[in-house]
Amino acid sequence: MDWVAVGLCEDVPAGTVVPRRVLGTDLAIWRSATGKFHAWGDRCPHRGMRLSHGFVRGEVLSCIYHGWQYGTDGACGYIPAHPNLTPPKTICAQTYPCNQHDDAIWVTLSGTDQPLPDVGGCRPVRSLDFAVPAADIAAWFGQSLAPVITVAAPHDLHIALQPSTDNACMVHAFAPADQDRKAVSRYLEQIRADIEEAA
Ligand code: FES
Repeated sequence: MDWVAVGLCEDVPAGTVVPRRVLGTDLAIWRSATGKFHAWGDRCPHRGMRLSHGFVRGEVLSCIYHGWQYGTDGACGYIPAHPNLTPPKTICAQTYPCNQHDDAIWVTLSGTDQPLPDVGGCRPVRSLDFAVPAADIAAWFGQSLAPVITVAAPHDLHIALQPSTDNACMVHAFAPADQDRKAVSRYLEQIRADIEEAA
């Protein structure tokens, strides 16, 4: 699978973790104190708690349930109930390639060697959830499904599509810096209402 945008950098400050879903795969997207993004399967290797419910301290993501701590490589480095134990390397969160590019966070579930998508030098505007398949959004603009579609009117936009499930999609919109962000934001809400109503 190609690169998929899973959020705007400004929406995931350093030291936070958020849940995302790509084609039914639940992810924990977290940003360490030094600002690096990580995309992991949203499941603690211990007893399956969502890691997106956890908390970030420095370069470590801790599970909220029993406090197991995972380093940036996904490996468990500390188990509070057994403080003298060096956890075996087999205790490791599922990690996915994750990159910051054009002020967005990009993930690939398959480890594609394709280049990151291009948003034409545009700036991020906002992200919105749509209750329709990603293909419906692309089709609304007369386009085929792609990681990023371009729209020329009424606003000059690049729209990154994050297919959350077969029936839902998160949209991450980018526009040239000179565009009215509020007008673009209102436009996105309007097309969401229109596309969902037409579905
Ligand atoms: S379920 Fe995560 S530490 Fe126990």
